[in-house]
Amino acid sequence: MIAAVDETIVKLKAASGGPVDLREVMQRMTLEIAGRTMFSFGMDRHGAALRDFVMEYGDTLARPHMLDLLLPLNWPTPQDFRRARFRKRWTAFVGQLMAERRAAGKDDNAPARDLFDLMGAARDPETGQAFTDAQLGDQVATMILAGHETTATALFWALYLLALDPDTQEQLAAEVRGVAANGTLDIERLKFTRAVVDETMRLYPPAFLIARAAAGPDTIAGRPVRRGDVVLIAPWLLHRHERLWRDPNAFVPARFMTGTPPDRFAYLPFGVGARVCIGAHFALVEATLALAKIIGAFRVALADKDPVLPIGVVTTQPNRSPVFTIKPR
Ligand code: HEM
Repeated sequence: MIAAVDETIVKLKAASGGPVDLREVMQRMTLEIAGRTMFSFGMDRHGAALRDFVMEYGDTLARPHMLDLLLPLNWPTPQDFRRARFRKRWTAFVGQLMAERRAAGKDDNAPARDLFDLMGAARDPETGQAFTDAQLGDQVATMILAGHETTATALFWALYLLALDPDTQEQLAAEVRGVAANGTLDIERLKFTRAVVDETMRLYPPAFLIARAAAGPDTIAGRPVRRGDVVLIAPWLLHRHERLWRDPNAFVPARFMTGTPPDRFAYLPFGVGARVCIGAHFALVEATLALAKIIGAFRVALADKDPVLPIGVVTTQPNRSPVFTIKPR
Protein backbone atom coordinates (compact mmCIF):
# COMPACT_ATOMS: atom_id res chain seq x y z
CA MET A 1 0.00 0.00 0.00
CA ILE A 2 2.71 2.42 1.00
CA ALA A 3 4.67 1.81 -2.20
CA ALA A 4 1.62 2.43 -4.40
CA VAL A 5 0.71 5.63 -2.51
CA ASP A 6 4.30 6.87 -2.71
CA GLU A 7 4.38 6.23 -6.47
CA THR A 8 1.14 8.19 -6.83
CA ILE A 9 2.67 11.09 -4.93
CA VAL A 10 5.71 11.12 -7.22
CA LYS A 11 3.37 11.30 -10.25
CA LEU A 12 1.29 14.02 -8.59
CA LYS A 13 4.43 16.05 -7.89
CA ALA A 14 5.25 15.98 -11.59
CA ALA A 15 1.68 17.12 -12.37
CA SER A 16 1.46 19.81 -9.68
CA GLY A 17 1.01 23.30 -11.02
CA GLY A 18 -1.50 22.11 -13.63
CA PRO A 19 -5.07 20.85 -13.29
CA VAL A 20 -5.47 17.34 -11.86
CA ASP A 21 -8.35 14.90 -11.92
CA LEU A 22 -8.03 13.49 -8.43
CA ARG A 23 -10.96 11.15 -8.94
CA GLU A 24 -9.11 9.36 -11.70
CA VAL A 25 -5.86 9.40 -9.74
CA MET A 26 -7.62 7.81 -6.73
CA GLN A 27 -9.22 5.13 -8.92
CA ARG A 28 -5.87 4.21 -10.44
CA MET A 29 -4.15 4.15 -7.05
CA THR A 30 -6.73 1.99 -5.26
CA LEU A 31 -6.87 -0.40 -8.22
CA GLU A 32 -3.10 -0.69 -8.11
CA ILE A 33 -3.26 -1.41 -4.38
CA ALA A 34 -6.01 -4.03 -4.75
CA GLY A 35 -4.26 -5.78 -7.63
CA ARG A 36 -0.84 -5.80 -6.02
CA THR A 37 -1.69 -6.58 -2.41
CA MET A 38 -4.28 -9.30 -2.97
CA PHE A 39 -3.26 -10.95 -6.23
CA SER A 40 0.24 -9.82 -7.20
CA PHE A 41 -1.19 -8.97 -10.64
CA GLY A 42 0.95 -7.03 -13.09
CA MET A 43 -1.08 -3.86 -12.82
CA ASP A 44 1.38 -1.97 -14.99
CA ARG A 45 0.11 -3.97 -17.96
CA HIS A 46 -3.51 -4.62 -17.00
CA GLY A 47 -4.48 -1.64 -14.85
CA ALA A 48 -5.72 0.47 -17.77
CA ALA A 49 -7.88 -2.34 -19.21
CA LEU A 50 -9.34 -3.10 -15.78
CA ARG A 51 -10.21 0.53 -15.23
CA ASP A 52 -11.83 0.72 -18.69
CA PHE A 53 -14.10 -2.19 -17.75
CA VAL A 54 -15.11 -0.49 -14.49
CA MET A 55 -15.78 2.84 -16.20
CA GLU A 56 -17.69 1.27 -19.10
CA TYR A 57 -19.95 -0.64 -16.74
CA GLY A 58 -20.52 2.34 -14.44
CA ASP A 59 -21.25 4.73 -17.30
CA THR A 60 -23.69 2.48 -19.11
CA LEU A 61 -24.83 -0.94 -17.94
CA ALA A 62 -24.94 -0.25 -14.17
CA ARG A 63 -27.51 2.48 -14.74
CA PRO A 64 -31.14 1.45 -14.79
CA HIS A 65 -32.77 1.65 -18.19
CA MET A 66 -36.43 2.54 -18.61
CA LEU A 67 -37.16 -1.04 -19.75
CA ASP A 68 -35.49 -2.44 -16.61
CA LEU A 69 -38.28 -0.75 -14.68
CA LEU A 70 -41.19 -1.31 -17.03
CA LEU A 71 -40.81 -4.98 -17.95
CA PRO A 72 -41.60 -7.79 -15.49
CA LEU A 73 -38.50 -8.86 -13.54
CA ASN A 74 -38.13 -12.18 -15.36
CA TRP A 75 -38.22 -10.61 -18.85
CA PRO A 76 -34.76 -9.88 -20.18
CA THR A 77 -34.31 -6.34 -21.48
CA PRO A 78 -31.95 -5.27 -24.31
CA GLN A 79 -29.70 -3.96 -21.52
CA ASP A 80 -29.63 -7.46 -20.03
CA PHE A 81 -28.32 -8.88 -23.32
CA ARG A 82 -25.64 -6.20 -23.34
CA ARG A 83 -24.87 -7.01 -19.70
CA ALA A 84 -24.48 -10.69 -20.61
CA ARG A 85 -22.06 -9.82 -23.44
CA PHE A 86 -20.13 -7.57 -21.06
CA ARG A 87 -19.95 -10.37 -18.50
CA LYS A 88 -18.47 -12.70 -21.12
CA ARG A 89 -15.70 -10.24 -22.02
CA TRP A 90 -15.07 -9.48 -18.35
CA THR A 91 -14.92 -13.17 -17.35
CA ALA A 92 -12.44 -13.83 -20.18
CA PHE A 93 -10.30 -10.93 -18.96
CA VAL A 94 -10.26 -12.18 -15.36
CA GLY A 95 -9.44 -15.66 -16.69
CA GLN A 96 -6.45 -14.19 -18.50
CA LEU A 97 -5.25 -12.43 -15.34
CA MET A 98 -5.48 -15.69 -13.40
CA ALA A 99 -3.68 -17.65 -16.13
CA GLU A 100 -0.81 -15.14 -16.12
CA ARG A 101 -0.67 -15.17 -12.36
CA ARG A 102 -0.43 -18.97 -12.35
CA ALA A 103 2.18 -19.00 -15.13
CA ALA A 104 4.27 -16.57 -13.08
CA GLY A 105 4.64 -19.60 -10.89
CA LYS A 106 4.67 -20.31 -7.26
CA ASP A 107 7.06 -22.38 -5.28
CA ASP A 108 4.74 -25.01 -3.80
CA ASN A 109 6.85 -25.19 -0.68
CA ALA A 110 6.81 -21.44 -0.10
CA PRO A 111 4.19 -19.92 2.19
CA ALA A 112 1.15 -18.34 0.50
CA ARG A 113 2.19 -15.10 -1.14
CA ASP A 114 -1.18 -13.37 -1.24
CA LEU A 115 -4.94 -13.83 -1.23
CA PHE A 116 -4.79 -15.62 -4.60
CA ASP A 117 -2.60 -18.37 -3.13
CA LEU A 118 -4.78 -18.58 -0.02
CA MET A 119 -7.96 -18.93 -2.07
CA GLY A 120 -6.30 -21.49 -4.33
CA ALA A 121 -5.39 -23.56 -1.26
CA ALA A 122 -8.80 -23.15 0.43
CA ARG A 123 -10.97 -26.25 0.80
CA ASP A 124 -14.65 -26.52 1.63
CA PRO A 125 -14.65 -27.69 5.28
CA GLU A 126 -17.49 -30.14 4.58
CA THR A 127 -16.72 -31.58 1.13
CA GLY A 128 -12.97 -30.95 1.00
CA GLN A 129 -13.39 -29.47 -2.51
CA ALA A 130 -11.33 -26.61 -3.88
CA PHE A 131 -12.85 -23.67 -5.75
CA THR A 132 -13.59 -24.40 -9.40
CA ASP A 133 -11.90 -22.03 -11.84
CA ALA A 134 -15.20 -20.19 -12.41
CA GLN A 135 -15.73 -19.75 -8.68
CA LEU A 136 -12.18 -18.56 -8.16
CA GLY A 137 -12.66 -16.07 -11.02
CA ASP A 138 -15.81 -14.73 -9.35
CA GLN A 139 -13.99 -14.33 -6.05
CA VAL A 140 -11.09 -12.53 -7.71
CA ALA A 141 -13.45 -10.21 -9.62
CA THR A 142 -15.47 -9.46 -6.47
CA MET A 143 -12.43 -8.66 -4.38
CA ILE A 144 -10.90 -6.45 -7.06
CA LEU A 145 -14.12 -4.53 -7.74
CA ALA A 146 -15.46 -4.30 -4.17
CA GLY A 147 -11.92 -3.63 -3.03
CA HIS A 148 -11.02 -0.56 -5.05
CA GLU A 149 -13.94 1.50 -6.36
CA THR A 150 -15.45 2.03 -2.89
CA THR A 151 -12.17 3.20 -1.38
CA ALA A 152 -11.48 5.45 -4.39
CA THR A 153 -14.91 7.01 -3.89
CA ALA A 154 -14.28 7.61 -0.17
CA LEU A 155 -10.90 9.20 -0.93
CA PHE A 156 -12.34 11.37 -3.69
CA TRP A 157 -15.04 12.81 -1.39
CA ALA A 158 -12.50 13.29 1.43
CA LEU A 159 -10.27 15.34 -0.89
CA TYR A 160 -13.28 17.28 -2.16
CA LEU A 161 -14.44 18.14 1.39
CA LEU A 162 -10.91 19.08 2.48
CA ALA A 163 -10.55 21.36 -0.55
CA LEU A 164 -13.77 23.10 0.51
CA ASP A 165 -12.59 23.34 4.14
CA PRO A 166 -8.95 24.57 4.22
CA ASP A 167 -8.88 24.84 8.05
CA THR A 168 -9.67 21.17 8.46
CA GLN A 169 -7.15 20.36 5.74
CA GLU A 170 -4.44 22.28 7.65
CA GLN A 171 -5.38 20.49 10.87
CA LEU A 172 -4.91 17.16 9.10
CA ALA A 173 -1.57 18.26 7.61
CA ALA A 174 -0.41 19.34 11.09
CA GLU A 175 -1.28 15.92 12.50
CA VAL A 176 0.71 14.23 9.73
CA ARG A 177 3.74 16.46 10.42
CA GLY A 178 3.59 15.52 14.11
CA VAL A 179 3.11 11.80 13.53
CA ALA A 180 5.70 11.57 10.74
CA ALA A 181 8.36 13.23 12.85
CA ASN A 182 10.48 10.08 13.04
CA GLY A 183 10.16 9.34 9.30
CA THR A 184 7.44 6.68 9.40
CA LEU A 185 3.69 7.06 9.71
CA ASP A 186 2.18 5.32 12.72
CA ILE A 187 -1.38 4.74 11.59
CA GLU A 188 -2.65 4.34 15.16
CA ARG A 189 -1.67 7.94 15.86
CA LEU A 190 -3.46 9.39 12.81
CA LYS A 191 -6.61 9.98 14.86
CA PHE A 192 -7.78 13.14 13.15
CA THR A 193 -7.06 11.77 9.66
CA ARG A 194 -9.12 8.71 10.55
CA ALA A 195 -11.92 10.97 11.84
CA VAL A 196 -11.89 12.78 8.48
CA VAL A 197 -12.28 9.41 6.71
CA ASP A 198 -15.13 8.43 9.06
CA GLU A 199 -16.91 11.76 8.66
CA THR A 200 -16.49 11.65 4.87
CA MET A 201 -18.14 8.23 4.78
CA ARG A 202 -20.96 9.53 6.97
CA LEU A 203 -21.74 12.32 4.51
CA TYR A 204 -20.92 10.34 1.37
CA PRO A 205 -21.24 6.62 2.21
CA PRO A 206 -19.74 4.89 -0.85
CA ALA A 207 -22.42 2.19 -0.46
CA PHE A 208 -25.48 4.45 -0.32
CA LEU A 209 -27.93 1.56 -0.32
CA ILE A 210 -27.94 -2.01 0.99
CA ALA A 211 -30.60 -4.37 -0.36
CA ARG A 212 -32.04 -7.52 1.18
CA ALA A 213 -34.75 -9.99 0.20
CA ALA A 214 -36.83 -11.03 3.23
CA ALA A 215 -36.15 -14.68 4.13
CA GLY A 216 -39.55 -14.91 5.79
CA PRO A 217 -42.53 -12.84 6.93
CA ASP A 218 -41.74 -10.10 9.42
CA THR A 219 -42.84 -6.69 10.67
CA ILE A 220 -40.65 -3.61 10.34
CA ALA A 221 -41.73 -0.40 12.08
CA GLY A 222 -45.29 -1.67 12.14
CA ARG A 223 -45.34 -2.57 8.45
CA PRO A 224 -45.85 -6.15 7.33
CA VAL A 225 -43.07 -7.70 5.27
CA ARG A 226 -43.75 -10.76 3.12
CA ARG A 227 -41.25 -13.45 2.23
CA GLY A 228 -39.24 -12.28 -0.82
CA ASP A 229 -40.03 -8.60 -0.30
CA VAL A 230 -37.06 -6.39 -1.07
CA VAL A 231 -35.98 -4.25 1.86
CA LEU A 232 -33.71 -1.28 1.18
CA ILE A 233 -31.52 0.03 3.98
CA ALA A 234 -30.06 3.42 3.05
CA PRO A 235 -26.89 4.48 4.88
CA TRP A 236 -27.30 7.72 2.89
CA LEU A 237 -30.49 8.51 4.85
CA LEU A 238 -29.38 7.12 8.22
CA HIS A 239 -26.14 9.09 8.13
CA ARG A 240 -27.95 12.39 7.58
CA HIS A 241 -30.95 11.74 9.82
CA GLU A 242 -31.78 14.73 12.01
CA ARG A 243 -32.84 12.55 14.94
CA LEU A 244 -29.57 10.63 14.89
CA TRP A 245 -27.00 13.38 14.25
CA ARG A 246 -26.49 16.91 15.41
CA ASP A 247 -26.09 19.28 12.47
CA PRO A 248 -26.23 16.28 10.11
CA ASN A 249 -25.29 18.07 6.88
CA ALA A 250 -22.15 19.73 8.28
CA PHE A 251 -18.63 18.31 7.81
CA VAL A 252 -17.40 17.95 11.42
CA PRO A 253 -14.71 15.25 11.77
CA ALA A 254 -14.40 16.01 15.51
CA ARG A 255 -17.70 14.21 16.10
CA PHE A 256 -15.74 10.98 15.61
CA MET A 257 -13.15 11.91 18.23
CA THR A 258 -15.27 11.94 21.36
CA GLY A 259 -14.12 8.48 22.43
CA THR A 260 -17.66 7.09 22.06
CA PRO A 261 -18.33 5.45 18.69
CA PRO A 262 -21.64 6.32 17.02
CA ASP A 263 -24.60 3.98 17.38
CA ARG A 264 -23.88 0.75 15.49
CA PHE A 265 -27.13 1.04 13.55
CA ALA A 266 -26.94 4.77 12.86
CA TYR A 267 -23.57 4.60 11.11
CA LEU A 268 -22.99 1.74 8.71
CA PRO A 269 -20.64 2.61 5.87
CA PHE A 270 -19.54 -1.04 5.82
CA GLY A 271 -22.96 -2.57 6.49
CA VAL A 272 -23.66 -4.64 9.58
CA GLY A 273 -24.36 -8.26 10.55
CA ALA A 274 -23.44 -11.45 8.76
CA ARG A 275 -22.59 -9.76 5.44
CA VAL A 276 -20.60 -6.88 6.93
CA CYS A 277 -17.78 -5.75 4.63
CA ILE A 278 -14.93 -8.25 4.67
CA GLY A 279 -12.51 -5.50 3.60
CA ALA A 280 -13.47 -2.81 6.15
CA HIS A 281 -10.17 -2.88 7.99
CA PHE A 282 -8.19 -3.02 4.76
CA ALA A 283 -10.12 -0.02 3.42
CA LEU A 284 -9.75 2.04 6.60
CA VAL A 285 -6.01 1.45 6.75
CA GLU A 286 -5.66 2.26 3.06
CA ALA A 287 -7.82 5.40 3.10
CA THR A 288 -6.24 6.81 6.30
CA LEU A 289 -2.71 6.15 5.07
CA ALA A 290 -3.32 7.54 1.58
CA LEU A 291 -5.11 10.66 2.83
CA ALA A 292 -2.35 11.37 5.37
CA LYS A 293 0.36 11.00 2.74
CA ILE A 294 -1.41 13.06 0.08
CA ILE A 295 -2.43 15.93 2.37
CA GLY A 296 0.99 15.71 4.07
CA ALA A 297 2.58 16.29 0.65
CA PHE A 298 0.18 18.77 -1.01
CA ARG A 299 -2.18 21.63 -0.37
CA VAL A 300 -5.29 20.61 -2.31
CA ALA A 301 -7.74 23.14 -3.76
CA LEU A 302 -10.59 23.15 -6.26
CA ALA A 303 -9.96 24.96 -9.51
CA ASP A 304 -13.60 24.99 -10.51
CA LYS A 305 -16.16 26.16 -8.03
CA ASP A 306 -19.33 24.56 -9.40
CA PRO A 307 -20.88 22.18 -6.88
CA VAL A 308 -20.32 18.47 -7.31
CA LEU A 309 -23.44 16.41 -6.76
CA PRO A 310 -23.53 12.81 -5.60
CA ILE A 311 -25.34 10.30 -7.80
CA GLY A 312 -26.00 6.66 -6.97
CA VAL A 313 -24.44 4.41 -9.60
CA VAL A 314 -23.37 1.24 -7.77
CA THR A 315 -21.43 3.56 -5.44
CA THR A 316 -21.97 7.20 -4.48
CA GLN A 317 -20.33 8.77 -7.51
CA PRO A 318 -19.73 12.46 -8.17
CA ASN A 319 -21.85 13.67 -11.12
CA ARG A 320 -18.65 15.02 -12.70
CA SER A 321 -14.93 15.01 -11.99
CA PRO A 322 -14.03 18.50 -10.74
CA VAL A 323 -10.66 20.01 -11.57
CA PHE A 324 -8.29 20.22 -8.59
CA THR A 325 -5.00 22.05 -8.17
CA ILE A 326 -2.28 20.76 -5.86
CA LYS A 327 0.73 22.60 -4.45
CA PRO A 328 3.61 20.77 -2.78
CA ARG A 329 3.90 21.76 0.90
C1 HEM B 1 -14.40 2.42 1.82
C2 HEM B 1 -14.40 1.22 1.26
C3 HEM B 1 -15.53 0.20 1.35
C4 HEM B 1 -16.85 0.39 1.62
C5 HEM B 1 -17.59 1.69 1.92
C6 HEM B 1 -17.47 -0.94 1.57
C7 HEM B 1 -18.82 -1.18 1.83
C8 HEM B 1 -19.36 -2.45 1.92
C9 HEM B 1 -20.73 -2.74 2.36
C10 HEM B 1 -21.75 -1.70 2.78
C11 HEM B 1 -20.89 -4.07 2.31
C12 HEM B 1 -22.13 -4.86 2.74
C13 HEM B 1 -23.07 -5.05 1.60
C14 HEM B 1 -24.35 -5.73 2.05
O1 HEM B 1 -24.60 -5.89 3.25
O2 HEM B 1 -25.15 -6.09 1.16
C15 HEM B 1 -19.66 -4.65 1.81
C16 HEM B 1 -19.45 -6.00 1.58
C17 HEM B 1 -18.29 -6.51 1.02
N1 HEM B 1 -17.11 -5.84 0.80
FE1 HEM B 1 -16.78 -3.87 1.13
N2 HEM B 1 -16.50 -1.87 1.27
C18 HEM B 1 -15.30 -1.22 1.13
C19 HEM B 1 -14.08 -1.79 0.86
C20 HEM B 1 -13.87 -3.12 0.59
C21 HEM B 1 -12.58 -3.73 0.32
C22 HEM B 1 -11.24 -2.99 0.37
C23 HEM B 1 -12.82 -5.05 0.05
C24 HEM B 1 -11.83 -6.14 -0.30
C25 HEM B 1 -10.58 -6.12 0.03
C26 HEM B 1 -14.25 -5.26 0.15
C27 HEM B 1 -14.88 -6.46 -0.08
C28 HEM B 1 -16.20 -6.71 0.25
C29 HEM B 1 -16.82 -8.02 0.10
C30 HEM B 1 -16.17 -9.28 -0.48
C31 HEM B 1 -18.14 -7.90 0.58
C32 HEM B 1 -19.20 -8.97 0.67
C33 HEM B 1 -19.13 -9.64 2.02
C34 HEM B 1 -20.19 -10.71 2.21
O3 HEM B 1 -21.24 -10.64 1.56
O4 HEM B 1 -19.96 -11.62 3.01
N3 HEM B 1 -14.85 -4.08 0.49
N4 HEM B 1 -18.73 -3.64 1.60
